[in-house]
Amino acid sequence: MSAAQRRSVILGTGSELPNKIITNEDLERLVETSDEWITVRTGIKQRRVLEEGKGNADMAYHAALRALEDADLEAKDLDAIVMGTVTADYPFPSSACVLEDMLGARKAFSFDVNAACSGFLNALAVSDSFIRSGLINNALVVGSDALSRLLNWEDRTTCILFGDAAGAVVLGASENGDKGILSTRLRTDGSHVKTLYVPAGGSRNPTNPETVQNNEHTITMNGKEVFKTAVRSMEEISRQALKDAGVTIDQVSLVIPHQANRRIIEALAERLHVPMEKVMINLDKYGNTSAASVPVALDEARRTGRIKAGDVVLLNAFGAGFAWGAAVGRF
Ligand code: UT7
Repeated sequence: MSAAQRRSVILGTGSELPNKIITNEDLERLVETSDEWITVRTGIKQRRVLEEGKGNADMAYHAALRALEDADLEAKDLDAIVMGTVTADYPFPSSACVLEDMLGARKAFSFDVNAACSGFLNALAVSDSFIRSGLINNALVVGSDALSRLLNWEDRTTCILFGDAAGAVVLGASENGDKGILSTRLRTDGSHVKTLYVPAGGSRNPTNPETVQNNEHTITMNGKEVFKTAVRSMEEISRQALKDAGVTIDQVSLVIPHQANRRIIEALAERLHVPMEKVMINLDKYGNTSAASVPVALDEARRTGRIKAGDVVLLNAFGAGFAWGAAVGRF
């Protein structure tokens, strides 16, 4: 295969949602909020939480097994594992390494990508580039996060939004020029680091009794600022990715946006002139699952028959950093 002809195609998808469900009514008992407020302002009704004693890679493992089965590929034949996450099992090494061991994917090189809610898009873009360059022939691309571990359950502005999940995609090299990842685009704006972040636990502000006492190991967010920038940025990068792919928005069968807030998604759809019937939404069931949100929604869309052969799909995401991205693919 010459480098110019190569493309990566999605061979399989999988996802994993923890069993434990926290409803809006459950949250009413924890903080001063209401099912009505959460539903109207976000569209979220419930979210899943990873059980105690388990780590990120435990979720990723089950998502990966389903994606591999769907792709009809064995873990031992994987060339690479790239995982988007901000809630790795350990500060180091990567959750991708933990996952590699669980899967027995001994041939694969593995690493994590830290781009928050855009982590899966970044992992997808990196893996797609590796495949197109000829460096590898396949990759397991994962988005997996357990943000419940970083929540202050007394902060009603954040604890109502997030949930835990993992999604995975198996990419393989193909010479069929029509199908596959047609374009990827990534952006960041580091001037917004403190708009959405975890203040302590890193090298700048290491863990000590005071940081724990002050709840500095939990998510701090200016939600309004994120909201505003998310809509504008996802619209812009989606248009760029579509242009790169040489397709118009009318040719897109399904938009799979990051599942952060129903109002963000509706505003984005309006700006892109896409009817809501063509937009995948499952945040009512899972909340914002960070890097897992796009691959989980993609897997659900495929398994429920919302994506058919030949369909053009637009993925996009936005999150902490700020980091955002978009990808266009044909199935
Ligand atoms: O992947 C990226 C991750 N982050 C995001 O996607 C967040 C994006 N931002 C958002 O989704 C929205 O900004 C939020 C859902 C976080 C907040 O919605 P909003 O419409 O921007 O509300 P607000 O922050 O302007 O708050 C309105 C009011 C405030 O009360 P006052 O000042 O008007 O009296 C808040 O204190 O709602 C209050 N409030 C709540 N009330 C009940 C904030 N959180 C809650 C709550 N329950 N959970």
